[in-house]
Amino acid sequence: MKKHQFEVVVVGAGGAGLMAGLYASKSASTAVISKLYPARSHTGAAQGGIGAALGNLEEDHPEWHTYDTVKGADYIGDQDAIEFMCAEAPKIVYELEHMGLPFSRTPEGKIAQRPFGGHMNKNTNMPVRRACYAADRTGHMILQTLYQQSIKNNVTFFDEFQVMDLIRTEEGVAGVVALEIATGEMHVFQAKSIIFATGGWGRVWEITSNAYAYTGDGLAIALRRGIPAQDMEFYQFHPTGIYKMGILITEGVRGEGGVLINDKGERFMAHEGYAPRVKELASRDVVSRAMYLEMKNGRGIGGKKYIYLDVTPETVNKYAAIDGRTRPDGSPYVVTGEEILGKLPDIIDFCETYLGVNPVTDPMPVQPTAHYAMGGIPTNKFGEVVIDKDRTPLPGFFAAGENACVSVHGGNRLGTNSLLDIVVFGKHSGLKAAEHAKNTEYIPLPENPTEFAEAQLESIRNSQGTERIAEISKEMKEVMFDHVGVFRVEEGMRTAVDKIRELKERFKNIKLDDKGTQFNMELLNAWELSNLLDVAEVTAVSALNRKESRGAHARDDYPERDDEKWMKHTLAWQTEYGIKLDYKDVIFTKYKPKKRVY
Ligand code: FUM
Repeated sequence: MKKHQFEVVVVGAGGAGLMAGLYASKSASTAVISKLYPARSHTGAAQGGIGAALGNLEEDHPEWHTYDTVKGADYIGDQDAIEFMCAEAPKIVYELEHMGLPFSRTPEGKIAQRPFGGHMNKNTNMPVRRACYAADRTGHMILQTLYQQSIKNNVTFFDEFQVMDLIRTEEGVAGVVALEIATGEMHVFQAKSIIFATGGWGRVWEITSNAYAYTGDGLAIALRRGIPAQDMEFYQFHPTGIYKMGILITEGVRGEGGVLINDKGERFMAHEGYAPRVKELASRDVVSRAMYLEMKNGRGIGGKKYIYLDVTPETVNKYAAIDGRTRPDGSPYVVTGEEILGKLPDIIDFCETYLGVNPVTDPMPVQPTAHYAMGGIPTNKFGEVVIDKDRTPLPGFFAAGENACVSVHGGNRLGTNSLLDIVVFGKHSGLKAAEHAKNTEYIPLPENPTEFAEAQLESIRNSQGTERIAEISKEMKEVMFDHVGVFRVEEGMRTAVDKIRELKERFKNIKLDDKGTQFNMELLNAWELSNLLDVAEVTAVSALNRKESRGAHARDDYPERDDEKWMKHTLAWQTEYGIKLDYKDVIFTKYKPKKRVY
């Protein structure tokens, strides 16, 4: 076992982890540990933009952004944190620009902005251009920029190290345990402050836009160490994933004028009951549900489970004329194939590669895809992990990015607010973690700090059973997609809970072929599956218990939002007797709950 000591240790090297590491490293010795090479982190898959009310193309204000986020969240987001994030947004986007991020530009050279779902101009009551973008590779550019800055700032990286445990003693959090993937050797990182920025868990579901690496590791580790998970029932399905593959097709396509078409050739989002005013640019929960209902009622293309997303210039121009859409200078909105190609090069490439479809000439087959966790490790707006309904911080433990629940996204996140979340709360958790480190001593390590992590790995490695991880994984994904997906009902969610518990039992009886130590990815994949199973159980139990429909949690058996009974955050603990639930208050500042209309 090798030992290391850093004042701040960040786990995860996506946008949140890099931003946290960068800021912590300005005043504290800092290490960033990642199971991937940093530039391969899932932030790189974020496409369409980062939300900030710069007002470069039309009037906009952080207050408008705040209101849209509160409304998009279906009023269950914490408003103090939302206000903070939206106020920070313009500053942080300019900061990224000054770090060298190559944003797309307006003809005048300002940062270009496009419309995204749920972001509105309060004067016109129509979508506002708020998403600051670098073509359709905004996340990729953020990742590259922050990684370069981190290298310049001498952040110490431990790449391809799998963090397996949080060392939590009577005195607090003392560090983390990580496995060096290449050698199989255990490392102990003693730290005064630990920041989890390990990303999400879309791999729980069959169809997902998430990377293979998104297996909920940080959350599962925290759950095993007695830390609750918040609002796990709120899991977002992005409307447009490539059919059967789930790969993200950015909402930026709809921002550029792309429309959703059913088998009858109808632009169904315009129908009464969906979103007749803003249509494809309603919030994601609304669009995904509309697509699901179209498919359920036999209007998927050819009766199948997909819809067309059409961004061919002919279709865009036709519907832009019907909508009366104009350019910022007031001229009619008319696009050419060249413009589409220039603004959406990556998705065109993906569609050509995976489908043999060129989106400039043909529509794309899309279906809702598991995309983003609104829930996670509960934190306050400084990234401090808070472990009960009174929001008591666990000193020295921080979380940021998708594995955290601040909660700025509440029941449903608006597109572009995830990139904003990772940079704002990455930065502030880094600053707070460094401050904590300066005012505290190292907590002594327990006698055998790697014991728990090693026991987990050895029980998997030495299991002499017959079950295969691929089969358990497949069954988990199917049951979660079918029953804890876009629409939910009591019976289906009970089926999911029972199935996940059965799979957890079967997992104890698995068989691996590779018993080795070096680069044993079979072993690591099995451990990741144990994380996914834990996260799936917490998700299904939290969902089963919330008897209302709100944001991404849509129940056929409880179709209405119920503010009287359910305006509260779920907290879920993993205990030896199963999942224990409790609830905590939502923070309101000035926005009262209203019915959402798009
Ligand atoms: O549609 C997209 O480009 C995804 C962005 C997001 O999830 O915020």
